[in-house]
Amino acid sequence: MIKLIHVSKKFKETVVLKNVSIEFEPEKTYAIIGSSGAGKSTLLRCINLLEIPTTGSVIVDDIDLIKDKAKLSTVREKIGMVFQNFNLFAHMTALHNVMFALIKVKKLSNEEAQIQAIKYLTEVGLQNRLNNYPHQLSGGEKQRVAIARALAMKPIAMLFDEPTSALDPEMTQEVLKVIKKLNHIGMTNIIVTHEIKFAQEVADYIIFMDNAEILEVTPTQLFFSQPKSQRAAEFLFNMI
Ligand SMILES: Nc1ncnc2c1ncn2[C@@H]1O[C@H](COP(=O)(O)OP(=O)(O)O)[C@@H](O)[C@H]1O
Ligand SMILES: [Mg+2]
Repeated sequence: MIKLIHVSKKFKETVVLKNVSIEFEPEKTYAIIGSSGAGKSTLLRCINLLEIPTTGSVIVDDIDLIKDKAKLSTVREKIGMVFQNFNLFAHMTALHNVMFALIKVKKLSNEEAQIQAIKYLTEVGLQNRLNNYPHQLSGGEKQRVAIARALAMKPIAMLFDEPTSALDPEMTQEVLKVIKKLNHIGMTNIIVTHEIKFAQEVADYIIFMDNAEILEVTPTQLFFSQPKSQRAAEFLFNMI
């Protein structure tokens, strides 16, 4: 359903992705791990073309996104993205942050958008925070609004880029709990994280990246007991 084929990305002379090919199966959860600068965020951003690959193709639901730019916005609606720094609209309440795209993009009526927004904010435990602005929310609450906002669009896939790295340990846990609930409920989840224990608990597959390449895509249990690459073994050794 989501495929990257021979994707490379250069920023000027720097190679950030080197001939990466991977196919994401529907309804599975993938954790992308690896050292800082390995290319994890760039890989994630190539999936919904927030970064345009220098060469290669990105296929979502059989549509080649690079060739068929007209379909890009339709496909982007189907792929939710959650960032490290939340990216909420500062001048809108939690409720309006979630309602916004439902009205503008999905063309729901105000009333229907509100019903949907309340449903998803309740799902992430924020039913008592509907009318708070981002500056009145904790980091963990802000991230949960961002997750509700993405989920409300009913995506086929959710991309998370280090969703907890701006949070303290307690808030990290509350956000991870919400992400865990999303496992295997009809979406593909692709999560860049340095929370190794969380990756181990939640992911079906571990994607290990190093130096602009995917070194392995391995079923989670196997990755933690017998990583295929020497580099992943070293990475895990340094983590414990
Ligand atoms: N917009 C950009 N312009 C130039 N270099 C970039 C840009 N974005 C990322 N890079 C570089 O690409 C490499 C990989 O970055 P990134 O994908 O963010 O890695 P990771 O998420 O694994 O830490 C890094 O060396 C980074 O400095
Ligand atoms: Mg990153």
